[in-house]
Amino acid sequence: MSRKYRVGILGATGMVGQRFIQLLTGHPQFEITTVAASDRSQGKNYGEACTWRLSGDMPAAVRALPVQPPAPPLDCDLVFSSLPGEIARETESSFAAAGYPVISNSSAFRMDDDVPLLIPEVNHTHLGLLERQKSKYPGGGFIVTDPNCSVIMIAMALAPLHAAFGVEATIVTTLQALSGAGYPGVASLDILDNVLPYISGAEEEKIETETTKILGRCNDARIEAAPFAVSAQCHRVNVMDGHMAAVRVKLARKATLGDVRDALASFRSLPQELRLHSAPATPIVVRDEEDRPQPKLDRDAGNGMTVSVGRIKPDSVFDYRFVALSHNTIRGAAGAAILNAELLIALNHL
Ligand SMILES: NC(=O)c1ccc[n+]([C@@H]2O[C@H](COP(=O)([O-])OP(=O)(O)OC[C@H]3O[C@@H](n4cnc5c(N)ncnc54)[C@H](OP(=O)(O)O)[C@@H]3O)[C@@H](O)[C@H]2O)c1
Repeated sequence: MSRKYRVGILGATGMVGQRFIQLLTGHPQFEITTVAASDRSQGKNYGEACTWRLSGDMPAAVRALPVQPPAPPLDCDLVFSSLPGEIARETESSFAAAGYPVISNSSAFRMDDDVPLLIPEVNHTHLGLLERQKSKYPGGGFIVTDPNCSVIMIAMALAPLHAAFGVEATIVTTLQALSGAGYPGVASLDILDNVLPYISGAEEEKIETETTKILGRCNDARIEAAPFAVSAQCHRVNVMDGHMAAVRVKLARKATLGDVRDALASFRSLPQELRLHSAPATPIVVRDEEDRPQPKLDRDAGNGMTVSVGRIKPDSVFDYRFVALSHNTIRGAAGAAILNAELLIALNHL
């Protein structure tokens, strides 16, 4: 390994920011040199500004870092952003304009037609869109985003089915964990003994639009969205980490139950070939037990980077149904962004 890339984390004190800190500590390709957050935290050391909410102690190496405003210049080679959507657009574009690669978790740029909405196992060819950012950001900066935390597992599970049999339509019902709402998130009196059938921030629309962009084709640095309808309903449930999705899928070509199971279980892609540091050996694990996957038991599969799929059954309205589950702040956020950065290095974009 020639050198480590120096990274800045925007929104470093939040739920996703803390995952970035945890996952980047000891990473062979990255070292954290800068942390940034709101004016509530700026001017303090990270150890004072951040109440650590993950298991284990806050990594010692970040405690003394001063929290900076999220504005260029910062002392780093690239930034990971986990800023709230409302401020991400202006902030992330100012970093790209100042020459920084921006690898973002926020929704601000996901649907822009020159921005890759990247899942390395599914659509690494969409990095062709970066060509179109060169004129916008002549200083060498660019923006790559990762999808919404539920979309990642839904698109990962649909990808091998779409490739093998063609997806014609899908209906998705999510059960989403509390950590997906950031801190302090949903009030305890609203969620204890309860399920909330609404997630703010246009969650259902994000699932319906992002999924077909990700599974679309990239031709001449343009994405042609996958030609199928996605219908989504989202629920917040009383689970700490781990989003679940009940999925029904209509296929264009006939497939047996065994064909569907095999397509999911045998799915491997470029990150596995390249042996990227954060890539799980098995991106999709199929569980055959009748009561899996479950958040408590399966969210940490593949160090939180594997999507677990179970309950694969013929469906009496569509062709097949299944349940998918993944860790929302790892595969659904910080881990996904770090895998994106590892792919960008491997393909010489960084
Ligand atoms: N949680 C998930 O599972 C998940 C998954 C995928 C994507 N995301 C996306 O990731 C982003 C962060 O989510 P989160 O769950 O980590 O939220 P969070 O816990 O509320 O953290 C927000 C972070 O942004 C900072 N911040 C807030 N307002 C700011 C401002 N005006 N200027 C500068 N910094 C500001 C906060 O700093 P202070 O501590 O100083 O206030 C904190 O570091 C959001 O865009 C979210 O949609 C979250």
